[in-house]
Formats: sequence, C-alpha cells, structure tokens
Amino acid sequence: MMSTDRKLRIAVLFGGRSGEHEVSLMSARSVLSVLDPAKYEVTQVGITHDGTWLSGEDVLGKFENNNTDGLLPVIVSPDPSEKGIYILEGEALKKLADIDVYFPVLHGTFGEDGTIQGLFELADVAYVGAGVVGSSVGMDKGVFKDVMIANNIPVVDTMVVLRAEIEKDVVALIEKAEKISDYPFFTKPANLGSSVGVTKCNSRSDLQEGLMEAASFDRRVLIQKGVKNAREIEVSVLGNDDPVASVPGEILPSREFYSYESKYIDGTSGYAIPAPLPDETTELIREYAVRAYKAIDCAGMARVDFFVESDTNKIYLNELNTIPGFTKISMYPKLWEASGLPYAKLVDRLIELAMERKADRDHTSHTYRSQA
Ligand SMILES: Nc1ncnc2c1ncn2[C@@H]1O[C@H](COP(=O)(O)OP(=O)(O)O)[C@@H](O)[C@H]1O
Ligand SMILES: [Mg+2]
Repeated sequence: MMSTDRKLRIAVLFGGRSGEHEVSLMSARSVLSVLDPAKYEVTQVGITHDGTWLSGEDVLGKFENNNTDGLLPVIVSPDPSEKGIYILEGEALKKLADIDVYFPVLHGTFGEDGTIQGLFELADVAYVGAGVVGSSVGMDKGVFKDVMIANNIPVVDTMVVLRAEIEKDVVALIEKAEKISDYPFFTKPANLGSSVGVTKCNSRSDLQEGLMEAASFDRRVLIQKGVKNAREIEVSVLGNDDPVASVPGEILPSREFYSYESKYIDGTSGYAIPAPLPDETTELIREYAVRAYKAIDCAGMARVDFFVESDTNKIYLNELNTIPGFTKISMYPKLWEASGLPYAKLVDRLIELAMERKADRDHTSHTYRSQA
C-alpha cells in the first residue's frame, strides 16, 4: 500500500490534440484549484494542439495564453521499470517526477478515447477514469449504441455511415434515411464531443450539408432520428465495480439545441437540479446510467446523457462521457454537489478510485504456465 508519510504525487494532464483542447484547459483550471497542497504534489503536463507534451513552471497559465515559452518537452515512459515523467534535456532523458496517479483532464480525441489510457496501461501506472475499452466504446457513438441495444437500454434509431459512402452517393444515403424516419435528423461524427460537427437537419439540403460537415471530422458518421421536444437529462456516475448514480439534472438550452456555443461561448444554458421528472422516470434513468456504465466497463467517473420526450416521458440514452466537462460549474460536479459530494471531495475520491483500480489490476496475472 501507499505510504502515508509523504504527499501523493499527481500528474494533471490537459490540452491535447482535440477539438476540445480549450474546454480541457477550463476543466484543468478547476481541478488544479482544489488539489490540496498539503496532500498532493502536482506536476502539470500540457499537451499542445500538435501533440507535444510540455512541462515546467505554470504550464496551464502558459497554455491559456497560447505561449509555451520556457516549457520543456516531457514523456511518460511506456516501460513499467522506468516509471515516471522524463524531461528531455538536450539528448538526455532525465526523470522529472515520480508519479502516483495520472489525472487526464483531457476531453475528446487522444484523451478520452482509450489512446492515452493505453499508454498508462503499458506503463503500469494508476490513472483517473475509465480504462481502454470503457473509454473507446464511450467515445464511439456508433459502437456504443450497439452495446446499449444488446443490454436492452433504449437508444434513438441511428444509421452509421462511412465518409466513403457519403462521398460516393450521398443521395442514396439520404433516401435510405428518409425511409427510416421523418425530419428532423441529427448528423454527427462518431468520435467527437462538445457538439462539434453536430447538425440538426430539417430538410434534404440540411441533411446533405450535415453529412458533409460531420464527415470532415470523422470517417464514420451517424444519421440519427431527431427526438421531438427532447428534454436533455444528465446523470453523474461515480465508482469502480459498484458505481452509484447522482440525482439527474436537466439542461435548459437557450438555442435550438445544446450546441458548442451554448455550452461554452454564450454560457446561456441553464440547469434544473434535480431535474423535475416523475419519480419512476428518475429512477429508471439512474438505473440505465449505472447499467450503461457497467456494460462498457467504466471506472472512476462518467456522465450519462439522456433525451426524454416531453409528451410521453419516453427515455433514450444518448451518450456516455468518460471525462465530462469538469469545471466547477460543469454538470458532472454540480450533480454530485447536489447529491452531497462537494467538488474538492469528488476530486479526492477520483484519485482514490484510481489507486483502488490499480491495486485491483495488480491481481491480474500476465503470465500463464501450463500445468501439464
Ligand atoms: N437524436 C437527437 N434528437 C434531438 N436532439 C439531439 C439528437 N442528437 C443530438 N441532439 C442535440 O445535439 C446536442 C449534441 O449532440 P450529442 O449527441 O450529445 O453530441 P456531443 O457528444 O457533441 O455532445 C445534444 O445535446 C442535443 O441538444
Ligand atoms: Mg452531448
């Protein structure tokens, strides 16, 4: 077990090669502000838009100002016998810090999709959040839908199409979609978040444009039936093998849908916590959230997002985010606060869960000797 006579060494990673780079900086600002210096020794690692890993003095402040002067390239060794973060000094690698827990505060591609989790697994280190499979399935809206269907969790009717098919015969795809449902449709890239590349399509020409837009972000694209008068309900889940769900909250978007602008730019969306729903609907949503979390083998945390049809209270699970927005005013921590777990305690708990999961992984045998 970890000795308690020294501070825990935490590496907080932010930025990243992702459309949600700036969102990550906002989340990291909040996380860093509550890591108690009496308990933790923090190393900041910023990852640039190009994927360069940098560390040094006030990394986050520099990233926020788009100025990385004075920061030095670092790497996390994938070799378990060489644990830690290394700084590149000239030609030589020098250990910068030993790390007990890595905290990827990274949203979207290369942060939330299992790729960086793969590096942590190779390096045999503790890290906050879901592992490789949970992260990658949570990220891929197409595969995720199929896993939900296999677990009898209701989702919106969806077609997954390839960019190549869009380029070859977009009219054929549009005709196929029109046979499945009436307008509106939503088009979205399979692997992205923060509403980037998501379009509400009220007509054929919208659908064509939406497909092009989504295909510019990913080689796989979803065409999804629009839920009419969809209320947007979100639930926070926390835990490893026995995850628990928070009270659900409702997003009250100010625009036609919960777009990137309403999420981060005009900041006009409101919340209702707890979401005003009938008790049965609330309980069903919390149950689906936990089932979805377990179905894709999540760990640490996830925010699970639903649509509820206003007239019927019919529930659809929309998506699961393994590294949800994490500023103090983000839905994930706000829902925990409303459920009795304040922000700083939540961050402590995530670090504990990371160490518990690592201890559990250490029981896994990686060799097999035949008894014969
Ligand atoms: N099928 C749908 N029906 C109604 N609204 C939708 C649908 N799909 C997406 N939206 C709207 O678009 C927003 C972003 O879509 P979402 O699937 O959550 O992608 P992201 O991962 O970018 O958040 C949703 O919050 C919602 O407002
Ligand atoms: Mg969403």
